[in-house]
Amino acid sequence: MLNNNKPSFTVEDASRIALELYGLRAEICALPGERDCNFLLKTEAGQKFVLKIAPAVEQRDAIDLQIQALGHLVAHDPSLLLPRVRVTAGDETIAMITSVEGTKHFVRLLSYVPGRVLAETRPHTPELLYSLGSMLGKMDRALQDFAHPSAHRTLKWDLQCTLRIRNYLHYIEQPERRAIVERFLALFEAQVLPVSPTLRMSVIHNDANDYNVLVDATEGETRRVVSVVDFGDMVFTYTICELAIAAAYAMLNKADPLTAAAHVVAGYHEAFLLTESEIEALYPLICARLCISVVNSAYQQKVEPQNDYLTVSEQPAWALLEQLMDVHPRLAHYTFRHTCQLPPCPRSNALVEWLESNAGKMGRVVEPDLRVVKNVIFDLSIGSRELGNLLALSDVEVFTRHLFDRMNAANSSVGTGRYNEARPIYTSDQYKLAGNNGPEWRTVHIGLDVFMEAGAPVLAPLDGVVHSYRNNDSPLDYGPTIILQHTVSDEDKQLVFYTLYGHLSADSLDGLYEGKPITQGTPFCKIGNYPVNGGWPPHLHFQIITDLLDRTGEFPGVARPSQRDVWLSLSPDPNLIVGIPKECFPADCLSIEEIRRERAEHIGKSLSISYQRPLKIVRGAMQYLYDEDGRAYLDAVNNVSHVGHCHPRVVRAGQGQMAVLNTNTRYLHDNLVRYAERLCATLPEPLSVCFFVCSGSEANELALRLARTHTRQKDMIVVDAAYHGNTTSLINISPYKFDGPGGSGAPPPYVHKVPMPDIYRGEYKGNDPQAGEKYARYVEEVTLEIQKNQGNVAAFICESLLGCGGQIVLPENYLKEAYRSVRNAGGVCIADEVQVGFGRVGTHFWGFETQGVIPDIVTMGKPMGNGHPLAAVVTTPEIAASFNNGMEYFNTFGGNPVSCAIGLAVLDVINEERLQANALRVGTRLMDGVRGLMEKYALIGDVRGLGLFVGIELVLDRETLAPAASQASYIANRMKERGILLSTDGPFHNVLKVKPPLVFTEENADFLVGTLDEILVEDLARE
Ligand SMILES: Cc1ncc(COP(=O)(O)O)c(C=O)c1O
Repeated sequence: MLNNNKPSFTVEDASRIALELYGLRAEICALPGERDCNFLLKTEAGQKFVLKIAPAVEQRDAIDLQIQALGHLVAHDPSLLLPRVRVTAGDETIAMITSVEGTKHFVRLLSYVPGRVLAETRPHTPELLYSLGSMLGKMDRALQDFAHPSAHRTLKWDLQCTLRIRNYLHYIEQPERRAIVERFLALFEAQVLPVSPTLRMSVIHNDANDYNVLVDATEGETRRVVSVVDFGDMVFTYTICELAIAAAYAMLNKADPLTAAAHVVAGYHEAFLLTESEIEALYPLICARLCISVVNSAYQQKVEPQNDYLTVSEQPAWALLEQLMDVHPRLAHYTFRHTCQLPPCPRSNALVEWLESNAGKMGRVVEPDLRVVKNVIFDLSIGSRELGNLLALSDVEVFTRHLFDRMNAANSSVGTGRYNEARPIYTSDQYKLAGNNGPEWRTVHIGLDVFMEAGAPVLAPLDGVVHSYRNNDSPLDYGPTIILQHTVSDEDKQLVFYTLYGHLSADSLDGLYEGKPITQGTPFCKIGNYPVNGGWPPHLHFQIITDLLDRTGEFPGVARPSQRDVWLSLSPDPNLIVGIPKECFPADCLSIEEIRRERAEHIGKSLSISYQRPLKIVRGAMQYLYDEDGRAYLDAVNNVSHVGHCHPRVVRAGQGQMAVLNTNTRYLHDNLVRYAERLCATLPEPLSVCFFVCSGSEANELALRLARTHTRQKDMIVVDAAYHGNTTSLINISPYKFDGPGGSGAPPPYVHKVPMPDIYRGEYKGNDPQAGEKYARYVEEVTLEIQKNQGNVAAFICESLLGCGGQIVLPENYLKEAYRSVRNAGGVCIADEVQVGFGRVGTHFWGFETQGVIPDIVTMGKPMGNGHPLAAVVTTPEIAASFNNGMEYFNTFGGNPVSCAIGLAVLDVINEERLQANALRVGTRLMDGVRGLMEKYALIGDVRGLGLFVGIELVLDRETLAPAASQASYIANRMKERGILLSTDGPFHNVLKVKPPLVFTEENADFLVGTLDEILVEDLARE
């Protein structure tokens, strides 16, 4: 079956042949090859070629086939970057040589196409896989009118002849594995053979496996397939086999192989339209290719156990075949149809048309008739405000009360849950599936829910028979379920479809048998209650099913968003039967494109959007954010939602107070003083006077005024790369802005910049025990300079850990010494705690405490209100007294009762949930984990931080510290694709910032480290 005549030539032989036949002097190295002996040649001029030596037992015509095909392709589609044939000095495309042993061989020389093989390219993005399909589609289109007599040959790799491997099945030792191959051979027989007369035939490359496909290695983010090599398996066969082979290899090592294949199919179809029968044959042919591959490997292990090349993809191929055992072939077929812009389930359109044209004949599903009765249409979507906080929904009683209270308030006995709605109630692990970019949740509801009191009868809307029934009694499953089969006539044809009734009462299944007739209008089952109904509020889940995919007693009622259209086609809108008037349903939300369009028109463009592919986030819960499809993102960067997004305690505090009073601070109110007292209790004496404001910028702005009024000076000392806020005066003291894009490039004369005390990249490094004092000397020098010019210092402002500067931890004694110099000069010291305060650093509540200092003014913001705009300045009675100079300080919103209620709740949660201690424990684990990666990846230059304020600095070279900015941006974007939100910062934008809500767990930290580990091996993180 296999060919064992591969010639054996040395590098020296190849060198001689290159010189004698082609006049080329070249550096030579051997390349792998199944049949030919291959060598890579590099001439002094830098040209590269591949020298191929084939045994003479190969037909000369077979080699000519390859040469003619390459010529044909290049002539018909010059955009294809394929190897070109170079002739010998004697003008031959194929030369004959004789080895020392006297055997004859054919030699040819091809230009070398640069690139990395697909198998070694990471990751396989949708765009890359699409380009693979596109390249092959173009090739096959160009080969349509190519003919060569040698292409009509018998090849073991020709998928037409798949069934021949039946004779070799005994080489597979394990019976379970043999059974897998047998199943896919049966599928081939059942699905390919019947359509084979309609399949187009042509000469194809026939081996676009992942080691034969080349990807361009140019700089930039989008990698594309540019070429395919090794034309030795060309054959005249079904054209679709080309795509099947490529897709089979593209599916290897993928969590969701079908989606990977669909990307390849999309690219191919765009370049060269597939026919319906080709799409039908595609999935069985993909499986056939994998079967041939594993059978060959099994055989090969017997006859040539030492040849690793032949078994290179054996294990992944088995693993893939095992994964595909769980994919229903028709689901694969429908997926590919959808990819090719056809209705996924071919029967679906006819059913929808029939249901539409027979709407008047449908019976009701429940009493009363939903076509006319008052009905509450619930919004159960991911971002639904009606649902409120997610945590409450996990309690079925609370959830039930919530829904039924609304129905009662609306004086309605019925409520409806919508079809084609992504829902947050399906974001638990039970609905989690592996995707090619991390997990995906089956969030999209593909039935219609009818909420009614338990025990309400359910009626058959059409005549039917019981197809199947079952008690699906796992928690959060359907509970008792019935599927009816309906057969209706549509003109001269018969249509068969199904309706599913889930979450029924236990007695609904009594007396049923398969085939039992149920006539229209019969009350044949009842709505169940929890826990019997699967643990849900009482409701009927009603779903139409076009193709049951051979399932009985159940059928998925929710689908993964990436397969939404396929499942909607399998389960068309149940409202086609139920008939709730369209105007009862609310309008759809805005799509990402619509929001971007509107934003472009009405929102200032200086406001950037995170990530190359922006996110529409509609819900937050603790350390997670959810997009509109319900995909959960682990939020590792939002230090504002300090105690967790939408922490219920904080939400309740705000909502409760908002319902009673919210006004300014010129009236007396408990909340203001209670909160001020609690806040001051976290701070050392003499920091005891609060001013409440609404943003970090307002806090720093006021801090400047306090300092200047108190000292009657204007000059400010600021740390390089710092950001302190968005007002005019703060931009003037923020080097991050005035030195950055769009900035003036220089501060006003009264602003003095000192270097960042950066012990990784700065002048004094971590190995210098005096680094803190040495960096602080710059502060002293500046004060002296200011005084020399007859001025004096108003204030020194410094973050307690440097945020925009790149998550820098201040070296020991830095603030102590800097504060000493500033105070000696009569200035005051401002600690900007807007980023790092409130327990984030783990060991202390405030960042400045880690430096053993007490500032004169502390500014705080972001985490303070957990997302509510609450900020503050806290200072000493002395400075506050200076500020009380007759000019009133009024702030309309600062310190209002709602803000203070929220602030108090945040402090309570930090204490009660011991979040400061959690920050220390989880932050240490996170940093240890990332430091562990430093051994594997030279890209990670430094890992630093305190508690859950962590920076990962990426460098191209650990000696020169050349910043790896594009890699940092790539990694942040890829982490997002994989479901983790990070950002980049630092003067060179090469620092990954980690500053999550403090409810971040050790498991979250491990997930972050593990995902980072996987992304760091990807090409663009390495190059
Ligand atoms: C250190 C620091 N100070 C002040 C601010 C300004 O705060 P806000 O955006 O709330 O005005 C920021 C904002 O990023 C900050 O990082």
